[in-house]
Amino acid sequence: MPPSSPIARHIEGGKIAALRAPATTDVLERWVQAFRSVRAETEQRAAPLGPEDQVVQSMPDASPTKWHRAHTTWFFEQFLLVPQLPGYRVFDEAFGYLFNSYYVAAGPRHARPQRGMITRPNAAEVGVYRAHVDAAVERLISTADDARIEEVLRVLEIGLHHEQQHQELLLTDILHVFAQNPTAPAYDTDWRPSATRQSSRGFAELPAGLHTIGFSEKGYSFDNEGPAHQVFLGPVRIARSLVTNAQWLDFMADGGYATPSLWLSDGWAMVAAEGWCAPGYWRKRDGAWYSLSLGGLRPVELDAPVTHVSYYEADAFARWAGKDLPSEAEWEVAARARLIDDAFGAVWQWTRSPYAPYPGYRPAAGVLGEYNGKFMVNQMVLQGSSHATPEGHARVSYRNFFYPPARWQFSGLRLADHPG
Ligand SMILES: [Fe+2]
Repeated sequence: MPPSSPIARHIEGGKIAALRAPATTDVLERWVQAFRSVRAETEQRAAPLGPEDQVVQSMPDASPTKWHRAHTTWFFEQFLLVPQLPGYRVFDEAFGYLFNSYYVAAGPRHARPQRGMITRPNAAEVGVYRAHVDAAVERLISTADDARIEEVLRVLEIGLHHEQQHQELLLTDILHVFAQNPTAPAYDTDWRPSATRQSSRGFAELPAGLHTIGFSEKGYSFDNEGPAHQVFLGPVRIARSLVTNAQWLDFMADGGYATPSLWLSDGWAMVAAEGWCAPGYWRKRDGAWYSLSLGGLRPVELDAPVTHVSYYEADAFARWAGKDLPSEAEWEVAARARLIDDAFGAVWQWTRSPYAPYPGYRPAAGVLGEYNGKFMVNQMVLQGSSHATPEGHARVSYRNFFYPPARWQFSGLRLADHPG
């Protein structure tokens, strides 16, 4: 696992507020350093991957490495350089079509499921594109006048956090690519998941009553984390620990994947259609379970948190255990009160909450308003972060979201217990 380059070190917390005031040379230099750190992290994550690895798209939801590298670059070019850097000429007129993801207002784009067909530009040419845009962004930061600098830094900051999101996707997507290869290649043979505490068994009681959730701190957040607002929580207990592989094996041994009464109807349809009988990437060899990780095919570790389970599986497991999944509000209140272990850095945790706008939420004006708001239907919220989340990217108010069948992310769960 390559080391992370923490954007946090440069631009988190109170420093953000300072950056909004007069942009001194020192402040701008910190932004340049943050920009370089994030951009370098992407290349570091791609470094173990050859050109052949980088072009494959193993399913419509998973994008090729090369595409991630180019798309994050296009984001800065399209939303920062074109509107803000006088005289800037785009690197290649065709790249907007190839590397726009879903921004309708930014123009037409290549079909998502066809990203693996883009053999040109090749991986090396994408590297040249990245260098071209990197140089222009640094030039913009150092030359923007007072009238522009606030908007420049606002979009720059979004672009950095956007690129960090793609850094995690780069790893989840290449793992899915490798899972299609019968030889089970390793991304990095030295890769190890971060250690989990898993020391505090049992459940923690949440104080019933009114609580505030949502982003209200200083620093950066995505728009979907606000507005902060009050929620009422009834009596509930939340598991201190994540659900482990050992617990999941008990679920499997007890016929969890073969008992329709445990499943939501859509989930049971997925079990039948996909033949699910274990978490994603699990393989049985000589009677023992292995799982494909970024480090290659390894024996399933009993104490490690179960990973690569869908919402449907998490929900079925909770029902089997006689428990529930926590709501996103319950999870956030518990995490803020430090009642749960391994909230961050192990696996994203499914909640029972549909991904919907918080009261009073309005997408930002302009094309970047498409970033989150238009996806607020039919998906479920996951909270926390995973071992693949870049350092400095996780927050207690963070709302990740995926469709219920998705299990190629580093997704797991913890239980909650609502009195019946
Ligand atoms: Fe993106």
